[in-house]
Amino acid sequence: MDSQSGNIDDVAARSRIGSGGNAAAGRIAIEWARRHSPVLNGLLRRTLDDGVFTGRRIALVVHLEAKTAFLATVLADAGARVVVAGSNPHSTRDEIAAALVSHGIEVHSSRNSGYEQWEEDILAVADTEPEFIIDDGAELTIRMAKHRPVFYNNIKGVSEETTTGVARLRALEAAGRLPFPAMAANDAACKHMFDNRYGTGQSTIQAILQLTNFLMAGKRVAIVGYGWVGRGIATYVRGLGGRALVIEVDPIKALEAHMDGHTVAPAGQALPMADMVITATGGVRAIASNHLPLIKENAILANAGHHDLEIDVEAMDKASFSVRTVREGIERYELKDGKSVYVLSSGALVNIAGGLGHPIEIMDLSFAVQGLSSHEIASGDYAPGIHVIPKHLDEAIARARLAHEGIHLDQVSPEQRDTVDQWLGDDREH
Ligand SMILES: NC(=O)c1ccc[n+]([C@@H]2O[C@H](COP(=O)([O-])OP(=O)(O)OC[C@H]3O[C@@H](n4cnc5c(N)ncnc54)[C@H](O)[C@@H]3O)[C@@H](O)[C@H]2O)c1
Repeated sequence: MDSQSGNIDDVAARSRIGSGGNAAAGRIAIEWARRHSPVLNGLLRRTLDDGVFTGRRIALVVHLEAKTAFLATVLADAGARVVVAGSNPHSTRDEIAAALVSHGIEVHSSRNSGYEQWEEDILAVADTEPEFIIDDGAELTIRMAKHRPVFYNNIKGVSEETTTGVARLRALEAAGRLPFPAMAANDAACKHMFDNRYGTGQSTIQAILQLTNFLMAGKRVAIVGYGWVGRGIATYVRGLGGRALVIEVDPIKALEAHMDGHTVAPAGQALPMADMVITATGGVRAIASNHLPLIKENAILANAGHHDLEIDVEAMDKASFSVRTVREGIERYELKDGKSVYVLSSGALVNIAGGLGHPIEIMDLSFAVQGLSSHEIASGDYAPGIHVIPKHLDEAIARARLAHEGIHLDQVSPEQRDTVDQWLGDDREH
């Protein structure tokens, strides 16, 4: 199928990317992602071969790094007119943006652009009047609802990546402001069970250790929120010899953390002991100004949740004498109470803004969900509202990944089924 990549000069003129991006380096990173993404290369490409996206406008607003760029090329190869922006002002890789533009795909994003520029970039994508959106945190969708209501009403469908974004879409639906079908990609098993747990768990710890050059063994790590993400982080903390101290508000999740063998305690007890604090609640101000007196001297604070304000860096700024970058990705806050603490990646998602993001195998699954969700909306007959991809597609993704690993499954034989005939036997005839 012909790629819908546009004329490079026109695309470059329409795009806004960082000036220092080395497109050749970006192409190498995208090629590496391509080589290790069997589900996107197989199942997704085959599905999109039906031409449903030919000539359709798709906006892709996800953290802009190599795996995202590879998804953009798969959609463009399927005939879509793809426009891309990053879903966070801190996480875009300039070399990847440059590589996409050199491939003929329009991009509006640069690393550490600042919030104002990032908003402008998102609205520039909105102004291309996307018919389909692949979103992360609903960052494009909520801005179109607010600032581009006419284009918003013409959207044909949205597929949403993450927990926070699905919560935002549900809020829009409750407010009667969701006039199109939206797929909660996050709610697919092949997304949250692997991406939120294993992907974020591994890449968050990896990024923290890489940024700090610290050892995990023996560290006490407070994890705020024990959902899919928090649970994954706790697993990797323990795997490397650290001890997880879980701060939760939901009694069931707290009990689960307890039975998983972690220490569960309120912030007042956990924070004074913690060498590191990692937020994963999906909300804002999980670490707020009232927590600052509790935090240990020289503690490392990092965020894995969607919001850059899970650690209230604005309040920390006000409570500090000085804030200084002491190493790449590490800011030291000298608090007015005389204590110093460190914040990684300015409070943005540390695994993406301060690391390489999710492992390729994980994004192969997550983006297969996103791609198939979008295809499902484009080819199906879904009513406005929030949907989840059908179970058979979720299972097809898992099977494709298993097949790549050389793993094939048994099937339940008729003799193994517990059926009504077996319970009742011949009695039914009497
Ligand atoms: N960094 C990444 O790459 C990445 C990947 C996937 C999801 N996310 C984001 O991570 C966040 C968490 O996702 P999830 O799937 O684990 O969500 P989840 O809803 O499964 O879990 C969140 C947990 O936080 C708890 N919580 C909420 N507020 C709290 C508070 N103030 N104090 C203590 N606990 C609190 C909730 O009770 C819940 O158990 C979301 O913002 C999601 O979008 C990030």
